[in-house]
Amino acid sequence: LKQKYLGQIANAADESALEDIRVTAVGKKGEVALKMRELGKMTPEERQVAGPALNALKDEINSALAAKKAALGDAALDERLRSEWLDVSLPGRGRRVGTIHPISQVTEEVTAIFGEMGFASAEGPRIDTDWYNFDALNIPGHHPARAEMDTFYMHRATGDDRAPNVLRTHTSPVQIRTMEAEGAPLRIICPGGVYRADYDQTHTPMFHQIEGLAIDKDISMANLKWVLEEFFAAFFEVDNIKTRFRASHFPFTEPSAEVDIQCSWENGTVKVGEGDDWLEVLGSGMVHPKVLQAGGIDPNEWQGFAFGMGIDRIAMLKYGIPDLRAFFDSDLRWLRHYGFAS
Ligand code: PHE
Repeated sequence: LKQKYLGQIANAADESALEDIRVTAVGKKGEVALKMRELGKMTPEERQVAGPALNALKDEINSALAAKKAALGDAALDERLRSEWLDVSLPGRGRRVGTIHPISQVTEEVTAIFGEMGFASAEGPRIDTDWYNFDALNIPGHHPARAEMDTFYMHRATGDDRAPNVLRTHTSPVQIRTMEAEGAPLRIICPGGVYRADYDQTHTPMFHQIEGLAIDKDISMANLKWVLEEFFAAFFEVDNIKTRFRASHFPFTEPSAEVDIQCSWENGTVKVGEGDDWLEVLGSGMVHPKVLQAGGIDPNEWQGFAFGMGIDRIAMLKYGIPDLRAFFDSDLRWLRHYGFAS
């Protein structure tokens, strides 16, 4: 019996074979147990010899099983170490890291620069009512600006005759929303996407603006000029920059000005902050009294300036990007070329 089981244990290939041997040898109904049952039929003298012998046999088989089990475990571990080895001296395989889209990067830069000057950031919905997008900004229903802005309308179901909502054509509606929510005084910028039905090298149907609004007791165009010049110098990383204010017209500002920044053109590339040329970058003016009123602010007590500029436009200038549409193509080669992706 002993020879038989010790031999089987030595040859067992794995743990389940060992378990089978354990059951047939020393299990409850195993061979050793059967022999023990026979002890009852023996004479006391026989039992005195056979009893301890069977117990010793059982112990011996159990410890052979345990030793073999440990040995199989070691072998399995050796095998794993052999097959799963790792050469830690191999060079690593690079993984590309995700990056922030250039428009988001520039939005953050702009927000940070105005933040230093005390402007908080405000946001509004991209689908807005025509009241916020137009009427509250002194652009009544018949006004030509509505047609000029190539507005996308969200049509109502038939039978619903409320005025359709619009995809906002500018960030100016956030002026009204913030005036209503916070009252005066106010110093905010409002970055975000805007929509106009237009598409060519310098226009995409969705683009980004940043609106600025400062309302206080005695705000003037001089404050506007200073704030903008501070901003442009910081954004374009130049010591100082000249701006040119050209009289213009917006329904929501009076007086209104378009603002140009100083630049130079050298065989097709623009450099900002030097030279004798000008580049138009934004619209601005003193907030129209009717607009303050629409936002619930008393125009006899408060006044303010506002401006709106294209984020995509100033990003193109800063990074020397010729085609606006590339911002929206998600072309990794393009993003890498301009250092926007790894
Ligand atoms: N909302 C204007 C536009 O989209 C820009 C602007 C904003 C002009 C604020 C004046 C004041 O063109």
